[in-house]
Amino acid sequence: MPISIKNADEAIDVLGQVIYIAGTQWGDEGKGKLVDILSQKYDVVARAAGGANAGHTICVNKDGESKKFVFHLLPSGVLHEDKICIIGNGLVVHIPALLDEIHELKEKGIDLTGRLLLSDRAHIILNYHREIDRIQEERKGDNKVGTTLKGIGPAYTDKTSRRGIRMGELKNFGSFAEKLRKNAEFHMKEYGFEFDIEKEINIHKDALEIIDSMIVNTTEYLDNIYKKGKTILAEGAQGAHLDIDHGTYPFVTSSSTTSGGVATGLGIAPNKLNTVIGITKSYTTRVGAGPFPTELTDELGKKIRDQGGEFGSTTGRPRRCGWFDTTVVKNANVLNGTTSVNLTKLDVLTGLETIRIGVEYKLNGETINFIPSSLEDFENVEVLYEEMPGWHEDIGEVTKFEDLPKNAQNYVNKLEELLEVPINFIGVGVHRADMIYK
Ligand code: GDP
Ligand code: IMO
Ligand code: MG
Repeated sequence: MPISIKNADEAIDVLGQVIYIAGTQWGDEGKGKLVDILSQKYDVVARAAGGANAGHTICVNKDGESKKFVFHLLPSGVLHEDKICIIGNGLVVHIPALLDEIHELKEKGIDLTGRLLLSDRAHIILNYHREIDRIQEERKGDNKVGTTLKGIGPAYTDKTSRRGIRMGELKNFGSFAEKLRKNAEFHMKEYGFEFDIEKEINIHKDALEIIDSMIVNTTEYLDNIYKKGKTILAEGAQGAHLDIDHGTYPFVTSSSTTSGGVATGLGIAPNKLNTVIGITKSYTTRVGAGPFPTELTDELGKKIRDQGGEFGSTTGRPRRCGWFDTTVVKNANVLNGTTSVNLTKLDVLTGLETIRIGVEYKLNGETINFIPSSLEDFENVEVLYEEMPGWHEDIGEVTKFEDLPKNAQNYVNKLEELLEVPINFIGVGVHRADMIYK
């Protein structure tokens, strides 16, 4: 049965007890906005993977003023003061960055006391991981990934090579400090950089006083509240094509960004997930290096970037822009088990004479329906496009699908037909209210 949603109040009845909000392209699709809207209705909001490489922007009207918040580690549900926020075991956490975010929110009048939980199994990003990230990128020269330089890859490398340090270890501070010292020395020798180990230990000693009571077994917590019928929203970071397994490797991040990552990154078994909402921009963007078949490197790409404010929320880098790519989003929908789509930023396309949609790939003359694992092949795919007439009317105030200009309706209907998944949410502006429910 296709899903139909009239407003956010209906969400839980329609979407279910546990949902995942997933990026379907290369990140920055607008996940934060829907997380913020739906977390009004969910009891717990949890991040499952990644770290402060994420940048989730939320714009809310408060006291008659538009206020902008950007979250890197904190789940985007934090603005609702009665919600529990969880940083799951799948994350890599730079503790000073986390404290900065908590502090910034406090200054804006939002208190997190008693409602932020940190998994004791989440890995810690130490400042030497950031140093290694920088050195690795430098050494790669022209082949650099274009990482956010937040230490993500090196921290996940330590995790999988089983030398990583986890949040829970802070509680036995003596052995934590000893392990930190050993790891730092190992990396300093390997990469040849100077590092103030004692300063790093002291940073974490001070931090522990603030976060000690937040560090718990979040899997156990989630299991308990699930059994009590509480509702859980898992907030995705990055996008399907930045996934370490399924993305455009090696131009990816270092975690599982697809729905399987919710199971491993929060300890919520896959059969508990009721709905996956795929967040899909009305066009495509990518920040950092790597193939991008529908990229527009001309004036039009620049125009979309300017109209969409496509500059990284974490690094400020200009995002590469291009047309909607059906194969990319369909591939993400397979990986995620997407049951509902939120099409975002439809308003950004207003004013274009014609809009193109990448509908199919050909490789060596043959149609292919999946992303090839070989980057060389991916770079050589020929994209077949369909063209649709654009619209010129301002759609920022539209609240009903039927009130959109006919050409905008046709564009959405065409994407729905191509994706074969219902588009239930359509973003037409940055604020909470700028969402059409369909
Ligand atoms: P995320 O990482 O997926 O949460 O997305 P980002 O926050 O990095 O980037 C999305 C940007 O688009 C943010 O600046 C949002 O405020 C903005 N945004 C989200 N939805 C819409 C929309 O429907 N229309 C417009 N114009 N902007 C939107
Ligand atoms: P949100 O959650 C867009 C990209 C980086 C780089 C690659 C690897 O806001 O959608 P990393 O620092 O993770 O090792 O960088 O992944 N990247 C993102 N791009 N949005 C994100 O997060 C991203 N997180 C990482 O630009 O290409
Ligand atoms: Mg972002």
